[in-house]
Amino acid sequence: MVDSITTEEVCFSRKRPDVYGDAHPKALLKAIQEEGDYLQNLTEQHVVSTDQFTRDELLQLFRLSAKYEGNPERFNTPLKGKILISAFYEPSTRTRLSFESAWHRLGGDIMSITDRSTTGIAKGESLEDVGEMFNNYGDCVVLRDNNEESVRLMMNSLRIPIINAGNGTDEHPTQALADMYTIFKWKPGLISDPDSTPKLTMGIVGIPSKMRTVRSLLKVMAVFPECFEEVIIFHDESAQKVFDEGQLEQLQEKGLNVTLSSKLNKRLPELDIVYINAIAWVGNTFESFGEKFVLSKSSPLKENAIIMHPLARGEELSTDLDDTHHNWYFSQARGAVFLRMALLTCLCQRTEQVMDIV
Ligand code: CP
Repeated sequence: MVDSITTEEVCFSRKRPDVYGDAHPKALLKAIQEEGDYLQNLTEQHVVSTDQFTRDELLQLFRLSAKYEGNPERFNTPLKGKILISAFYEPSTRTRLSFESAWHRLGGDIMSITDRSTTGIAKGESLEDVGEMFNNYGDCVVLRDNNEESVRLMMNSLRIPIINAGNGTDEHPTQALADMYTIFKWKPGLISDPDSTPKLTMGIVGIPSKMRTVRSLLKVMAVFPECFEEVIIFHDESAQKVFDEGQLEQLQEKGLNVTLSSKLNKRLPELDIVYINAIAWVGNTFESFGEKFVLSKSSPLKENAIIMHPLARGEELSTDLDDTHHNWYFSQARGAVFLRMALLTCLCQRTEQVMDIV
C-alpha cells in the first residue's frame, strides 16, 4: 500500500520556484553588437568540431541564442516545413531532447532513430549509403555515435548539414557552445566591458584526453583567452594521461593559461567557476572518474562561485547544492535549447526570418 499524497507534494511550484542561475539573457543581448554577416558563414556547414568556429561567429551565435531565450514564443516558425533526422546511437537525456525541443520550438518536424540496429546498418549497410538516403528524407541530421569516425564518414555523402552530438571521446561541440553561452550570460561584462570586468579563475574537474565535453569546452575557451586568468585542470595523480599529445600546447599557444593541480579543496576558495564532469563514454559503455573529487554544500566554495556540469551527474556533485545559488548546471542545460535553436536556424538558412524580429 502506497502512502496517500499531500497537496504540498503535488504542488511543484512550491518546491523549487526558479532555476538558479537563470540570469536574464537580455544583458548578453545588449553586450553583443549585431553583425548579421557572420551567421551567414554557418549556412550549410556541417558541425563536427568546435575548431571550426571563429570568435565573431560564436559571439553572433550567442547573441541569437539570447534573443531566442529572452522571447522564445516569438520564434515558432523559422523551421516550418523542415525535417530533422535525429540519430542517437548512444544514451542521451539532454542532447537528443534539447535538439528535438529546439527543432519543434522553431516549427519543424522530426524523425528519430534511437537504435542503429533498426536501420540497414544492422545488415552491413555503409554509413555513406545511409547518408545518401538521409539526403532524401530530411534537411538536417544530428548524430551521436560512439565511433569517432562515423560523423566524418557520413559527411562523404551528405548534402544536408550534420551536427556531431558527441562522437566517442573526441568532441561534443554543441555542449561546449552551450557552456560558453552560460559563462557569458553570467558575466556579459567580459564582452561589453572587459577593462572593468575581472578575469575568471576557472577549475575544470575532468580529463581532457578522455572527456569530449572537456576537450571541446577548452577549445572554445581558447577562442576567448583574455576572459580567463587561469584555467586549472584538477586530476587524480594516480590515474589517466590528462592530455593527449599536443593538446595542452595547442591551448597554451592560443593564450589560454592552463595549469594542473590535484588539490581541489585547497584551490576551491579562489575559483569563480567550477566545471565538474566525471563520466567519459568509451566504446559501448561509460567510465566514471568521480571518486576522488566531490562537491557538496560543505565544500569551501567562493561565496559567488558558480558550478557547471554537463550532466549526467554521479557521486561527484551532491544534490544538496541544487537549492543553492552555486547551481548553474540546470540553467546550463536549459540554455542549451536556445543555443541549439540558434545554430539550427543558421545551418538551415533561416536567419533572415528572425533577424528583424525583436
Ligand atoms: N550533456 C550531455 O551530453 O548529456 P546527455 O548525454 O544526456 O545528452
